Amino acid sequence: MTSAENKNGSLLLAIETSCDETSAAIVRDGRTVLSNIVSSQIETHRRFGGVVPEIASRKHVESITMIVQEALTEAGVSRQNIDAVAVTQGPGLIGALLVGVVAGKALAMAWDVPLIGTHHIAGHIYANRLIGEIVYPALALVVSGGHTELVLLPEEGVFRIIGRTRDDAVGEAYDKVARALSFPYPGGPHVDKLAWQAEEEIALPRAWLEEGSYDFSFSGLKSAVLAEINRAKMKGLEPSFAALARGFQNSVVDVVTTKAMRAASEFGARQMLLCGGVAANRGIRERLAALCEAAALPLLVPPMALCSDNAAMIGAAAELKWRRGQFSTLDLAASAQVSLEEWSV
Ligand code: KG4
Ligand code: ZN
Repeated sequence: MTSAENKNGSLLLAIETSCDETSAAIVRDGRTVLSNIVSSQIETHRRFGGVVPEIASRKHVESITMIVQEALTEAGVSRQNIDAVAVTQGPGLIGALLVGVVAGKALAMAWDVPLIGTHHIAGHIYANRLIGEIVYPALALVVSGGHTELVLLPEEGVFRIIGRTRDDAVGEAYDKVARALSFPYPGGPHVDKLAWQAEEEIALPRAWLEEGSYDFSFSGLKSAVLAEINRAKMKGLEPSFAALARGFQNSVVDVVTTKAMRAASEFGARQMLLCGGVAANRGIRERLAALCEAAALPLLVPPMALCSDNAAMIGAAAELKWRRGQFSTLDLAASAQVSLEEWSV
């Protein structure tokens, strides 16, 4: 990293290829999205019932150049105006990340501008910056297909992980349960919808873990759903998928929102940030909104397009580094596992 404070405004090109979305965005001052092009590969992966890493990498290679060009065109800016190139360095699928990192390095070198390797989860959290002012200390509940974390931000750009999943991520648990309920990938939205249609609920366990823990565990809950289905089948009965979806969702919502509120109170958070693809879940959104309102705690939730993987959120996080002159060198390595706390400014 090199260092020299940047006081002027910034225009960043951001690239995100950590999983199955190829995305490029132009972001002004870390707050204003001039363009945010997202090309999803969901249709390609659906028939395999999940993301196939090798296919994801190939698809990124095929589209990255076009997506970057489209981001510049839609924003109406030319490459001469770009101050830096931000790219997701990790975590994610290594082959997929590599495509974005190599593209980012090539552009930074060709355009002679700084490169900013950016943490994917910092991006999810700072997506909130694109819709409002973040007030510190803030507590972020990160819920996605690959991550479930409670992150304390004592001040701007500083991350402290206070809880994380010990097994499946929330979205992963939703997708596995959805598969057992015969829904196509990604099944999270189907389970959410079915849970709201249910007239009854099959009560399922809640994994609170040790007293005071902010960690999560969803694999036992997923197994409980499968066990209920098997039990019904062995009795020759049809299990009620709707009642199971409702039981599963209520367990998830209870645990994630209760732990988030407890953490906010313990660490004196002045704001709650919800982010990640599972932030689309109506159960989590509504319960968290109600709890925050009752606690007079302001809540920020980005719109769906900024919750699922996208490059604008990477631009929003990278600007924190740009302003402080903290740049990456051209030997930046993509990394499947990279620490969020160490990425702090
Ligand atoms: O953040 P994201 O786009 O990808 C990752 O970075 O992981 O999240 C995708 C995940 C999938 O597992 C999908 O099933 C889940 O978010 N998801 C939902 C809902 N909408 C998307 N899960 C539950 N309820 C929803 N409404
Ligand atoms: Zn993500």
